[in-house]
Amino acid sequence: MKKLAVVILAAGEGTRMKSALPKVLHTVAGRPMIEWVLAATSWLKPAKIVVVVGNHAQQVKEALGGQPLLICQQKERLGTAHALKQAAKFFLSFRGDVLVICGDTPLVESATLKQLVAAHRAGNNAATVLSAKAINPFSYGRINRSQSGDVVGIVEEKDCTAQQRLISEINSGMYCFSPLIWQALSKIKNNNAKREYYLTDAISILHAMGKRVDAKMLASMDEIMGINDRINLADAETIARKKTLNALMRAGVTIENPLTTIIGPDITIGADTVIRSGSIITGKCSIGANCEIGPYSVVSDSAVGDGCKVGPFAHLRPGTVLKTGAKVGNFCEVKKSVVGCGSKVNHLSYIGDAVLGSDVNIGAGTITCNYDGKNKFKTTIGDRAFVGSNTNFVAPVTVGAGALIAAGSTITENIPKGMLAIARARQINKKRIKS
Ligand code: UD1
Ligand code: CA
Repeated sequence: MKKLAVVILAAGEGTRMKSALPKVLHTVAGRPMIEWVLAATSWLKPAKIVVVVGNHAQQVKEALGGQPLLICQQKERLGTAHALKQAAKFFLSFRGDVLVICGDTPLVESATLKQLVAAHRAGNNAATVLSAKAINPFSYGRINRSQSGDVVGIVEEKDCTAQQRLISEINSGMYCFSPLIWQALSKIKNNNAKREYYLTDAISILHAMGKRVDAKMLASMDEIMGINDRINLADAETIARKKTLNALMRAGVTIENPLTTIIGPDITIGADTVIRSGSIITGKCSIGANCEIGPYSVVSDSAVGDGCKVGPFAHLRPGTVLKTGAKVGNFCEVKKSVVGCGSKVNHLSYIGDAVLGSDVNIGAGTITCNYDGKNKFKTTIGDRAFVGSNTNFVAPVTVGAGALIAAGSTITENIPKGMLAIARARQINKKRIKS
């Protein structure tokens, strides 16, 4: 099997984003654009992935830190061919194919890229372009075919004749090349409207060398969409979100109102769970079957077991674990805590750095005082404990199984199992002095 390498071009300035953040680090559905491209290409199991970065090299490098990537810098932005040339040093002894893709096309599917590589190999081509049919081809490079339909080159918008402008087959900016590309690159000149070294010229050069070049319409315009400004970014967000929601619905999840629901790409949800209006689920979450989330609830980096109920207006912050049948309701916030099987935190509570056993009942307005301004402390509450409304737990503190806490208590000492704790001033009723 021939080897495959991937080169991601991400050195562009992203001027139209009007941002201090490099374009490829802007997020779509909570994930930086370049991460989407990396995920799509990694799936092809390439022998190596090279990312060409530009002026914001350091920032992009840091964002991609820890991933097995090769990074090189294009110091001057002289065009897409010049960008690819910066990666040449990693290919001196590489004999496989090279998939070239841009860092700003977050919606491309790995299956499409796989088909592109397969078509390239089946045709024994020197270059295969991923093309698409555009209703409005404006601004894209057009695929130039001969009378007989053979691809002979790509013409950029600014260099098109009036006739060529009418061509609807456009270049996605994604290609699969044989190792001949490195030879072709050295022949590319910048004698064009933008005075740039166009990678697209490699197609006509390889064709002139008598090599086979082709273009395959394997994707829709939505899929190959390149992000140039924040309007494109919002469009991509809408498409990405819809894709995620559709996949969940196909897997048996009810999404009550897809237009107001945001669910990230790294979320698993079990069948027959209902996600109600206005809910946002982000980060890495697993949500079980037969749950009800929302309306208007936020869940981040948490694990929710089967049959749980979250909301309305609940907030599960990172590190929350709800075990089977647990409930977190109206205006409650839970952070880095475990809520045991069947336990309930139903009204106006803050539970942070706590471990609640099974069948615990937390009364309205109860909070864990987990932070002293410097450090965080843990609250542990045993099975079947019944916590009266408006209790404060001054952590660290441990409540034994089956304990009962009187409403309004401020608990500063551990409570042995089965005991009743009352920690509040005794009420006195006095005669009113009438004026
Ligand atoms: C490019 C193609 C065009 C295609 C379109 C698809 C060329 C000459 N044209 O045009 O045929 O229809 O993509 O979206 O390639 N980049 C660098 N260094 C550079 C220049 C660009 O890394 O010096 C990167 C950019 O970060 C971007 C990608 O290459 O990710 C494409 O560059 P861009 O200038 O946006 O090309 P287009 O004009 O869109
Ligand atoms: Ca309170």
